[in-house]
Amino acid sequence: MTEIRNIVLIGFMGAGKTVIGRAIASALNRPFFDTDTMVEETAGVKIEAIFGTLGEDAFRELEMRTIQELSSIKGAVIATGGGAIKNQENVAALKREGFIVYLYARPEVLLARIKQGGERPLAADIETVDGMQMLLAEREPIYRKMADLVVDTSDALVNDVENEILQAIGY
Ligand code: S3P
Repeated sequence: MTEIRNIVLIGFMGAGKTVIGRAIASALNRPFFDTDTMVEETAGVKIEAIFGTLGEDAFRELEMRTIQELSSIKGAVIATGGGAIKNQENVAALKREGFIVYLYARPEVLLARIKQGGERPLAADIETVDGMQMLLAEREPIYRKMADLVVDTSDALVNDVENEILQAIGY
């Protein structure tokens, strides 16, 4: 992989994209961008509030604009929101300069993780693995198709996942 490509982390809520992204950026001394944080900065409010007052479509529009902005950046580490890949334009923009890493985790592991952090609007109604099935069924094939590398984070420590990615990019 050339030095300047972005490393783009994709995957479901709770996959660890932000935590792993920060760790990789720090190890490689590269800038780190988190699309959710950028959307919140643009909107001036938290994602929960965007969903609550403006709705999901408004969030997706802000998310798309954020990803378009990032598409001209090189050499960064980018953590995406779990649903960003639903939009074909986002997929194309992320793939253009990006080495795509799909952080996989087993559904029951994802559920336990998203129930721990209480700030995700789409997680609020999900109580069981079955309840996640629609979102997972829609997204899993896209994550896999986009990915240059798939890493299973289900039972792994942050450090292990970080090392696996660094090794894959030849660091
Ligand atoms: C979403 C995931 C969230 C955030 C928003 C919608 C989704 O990001 O973008 O709540 O559609 O899966 P994380 O995957 O970082 O939790």
